[in-house]
Amino acid sequence: MQRLDQLREKIDRIDDELANLLEERMHFVLEIADLKETLRMAVHDVKREQKIKQNRAEKYRGLLSKKQWEEWFETIFRISKELQYERMLRNNLILIGFMGTGKTSVGKYLADHLDAIYIDLDEAVETMERASIAEIFEKKGEDYFREAETKCLQQLQQKLLSNIEGADRLRYVIACGGGTVLRTENVDLLRQMGRIVWLTGSPKTVYERLRKLSDRPLLQNRNSLDAIADLMRQRQPIYEAVGAEMIMDTSQLRIEEVTKKILEQLSQSRDLNR
Ligand code: S3P
Repeated sequence: MQRLDQLREKIDRIDDELANLLEERMHFVLEIADLKETLRMAVHDVKREQKIKQNRAEKYRGLLSKKQWEEWFETIFRISKELQYERMLRNNLILIGFMGTGKTSVGKYLADHLDAIYIDLDEAVETMERASIAEIFEKKGEDYFREAETKCLQQLQQKLLSNIEGADRLRYVIACGGGTVLRTENVDLLRQMGRIVWLTGSPKTVYERLRKLSDRPLLQNRNSLDAIADLMRQRQPIYEAVGAEMIMDTSQLRIEEVTKKILEQLSQSRDLNR
């Protein structure tokens, strides 16, 4: 028993040392975030992180397997990222833009990188109405859908407000529907909810992306390049009037590239901590 107590004491001491070292590491990580902010650099470099994780998992191999080391680093990196982005970017992010500009895919990817919660407004409407967007349009019409969208947004805003008051403030990335900004009351809500990023794309890109999909009621029976270009032209001034903090053309970019650029630009802007 004496040996067991001794061993337990030893690992307790090591845990204390590890905790102190981890704290020390995270202080440096935050200093790096501040420095990157001054140098206007992106906080997070996915490739570098992967390289470090792999190299170290190789280097440290002993009692622990490569997989276990990788898990250890993944956890450390995740915590580092959380702290860094929290330091630099304290607000929710709202993605607006035309159908097919990448709001959903980019939103999910962004949320992952920010350790934020992803919310898709279209999905929220579908859950509330227990029906797909296509069904809502078909059975109840566009006005009903817009009403439901606003109701969902109001509920979401209440949820965000209650989180601000809570001890653990959660952060959200919200992907809006393409037409969410058509109502000024929605735009007012969005402005209160977070920093707005407007994703754009050329009509041709949007057409290519949506060509094989049939879940966009507004493009049903007229999913042509001309129809898309037309609707885009009509909506352009509405999107412009939102006054998004950032506009990102996603036409030529992959999801990871769009995300990286958004994070870079957001972490470079002066009013980071709005
Ligand atoms: C719409 C866009 C859709 C969806 C609905 C209406 C629009 O969202 O909300 O079909 O008016 O542009 P996505 O932009 O996510 O496709």
